[in-house]
Amino acid sequence: MNRSNIYLDYSATTPVDPAVLDAMRPYFTGVFGNASSVHAHGRKAKAALERSREIIAGELGVHPGEVLYTSGGTESNNTALIGAAFALRKHRKSHLITSEAEHQAVLETCEFLETVGFTVTYLDVNRYGAVEPDRLGDAIREDTGIVSLMHANNELGTLNDIRELGGICRERGVLFHSDLVQSFSKVPMIPEDFPVDLASISAHKIYGPKGIGALYIRKGVEIERFQHGGGQERGRRGGTENVPLAVGFAKAVECMQQIREEERERLRFLRTHLLNGLTERIDHLHINTDLHNSVDHILNISFNAAKISIDGEALLMGLDTAGLSVSNGSACTSGSLEPSHVQLAIGHDKPTAKSAIRFSLGKYTTGDEIRQATDIVAGIIQKIGRPAETV
Ligand SMILES: Cc1ncc(COP(=O)(O)O)c(C=O)c1O
Repeated sequence: MNRSNIYLDYSATTPVDPAVLDAMRPYFTGVFGNASSVHAHGRKAKAALERSREIIAGELGVHPGEVLYTSGGTESNNTALIGAAFALRKHRKSHLITSEAEHQAVLETCEFLETVGFTVTYLDVNRYGAVEPDRLGDAIREDTGIVSLMHANNELGTLNDIRELGGICRERGVLFHSDLVQSFSKVPMIPEDFPVDLASISAHKIYGPKGIGALYIRKGVEIERFQHGGGQERGRRGGTENVPLAVGFAKAVECMQQIREEERERLRFLRTHLLNGLTERIDHLHINTDLHNSVDHILNISFNAAKISIDGEALLMGLDTAGLSVSNGSACTSGSLEPSHVQLAIGHDKPTAKSAIRFSLGKYTTGDEIRQATDIVAGIIQKIGRPAETV
């Protein structure tokens, strides 16, 4: 098979948009001042930092003072959960709620909090990875301080109903954090639909630079600081501000705003083609993305292990060798493939879970790439798939 070079892993990261790079460039050299310095060089940098914050806040529909810069989605999730949990402990709230399908940056933070005396309830999810709101209502207790539930699942693309889940938290007086990393600026953020107290976002998923993100902290929400140092970020995060990356983040948001609507439609169209191509040519597919309730750029499939046996390792290697970059959510620990916790959470057995493929499309994806990707996947499945009963 000829080696192609197709990138369908835009949910892992995206290339920096050339316009973003151009916007950032002056802030590495000419406008290099420390944003906390009071002199002219510092003031110029500060102005760029704050202008960028306004743009990011505008996209979220919030006040700029409610946006804290971080190093990315991981730090935002850590800050939200650890910061709020430690602050809430003073009010005898030591219980958190999250779901089994969250990103590791939330799950591992919760596991850390369990080691220092907090208790955590992990809600189960439906077959597409969404939390049923009733489950949340039932799980809230007297001592529940925070609920953390993501908007778009990073492996499946399925969306949680943030309006309803957040509404339940508001009603019950519990803080609500949402990881918006996979949906931010890809879907419009209408404030009424996002009754959140804390929200995590990241630049490198939207053609911005790696190493910067932000945490929305609703005015009045108390966060205990755990990065000590200077008084930057209103005393919430010590450390010299990264002006070039902040400028790049804001520019990435502006670029997304310009193309969002047509891009959503185009990606939906390409995703439908991909799905149709795959289902026409391959049997025993599970479609794990809720196609009626998902971000437009993700399609997750796996193969029913009761019908067809697919070696997950051979699948990943075969796709990579053929030049198709996709992801499957599995972790490679001690030389063997561990199935993704999300696949297990949606009810798949381990062999089915290991056969998952996440396709994530982006603004440079073409129809031709989708056709080639379909050929590659169909070819590999034909080569490595075995009827289940013969193994
Ligand atoms: C849903 C979700 N949350 C958090 C993160 C972590 O973001 P970052 O890479 O910016 O730390 C990711 C990245 O894959 C993600 O998809």
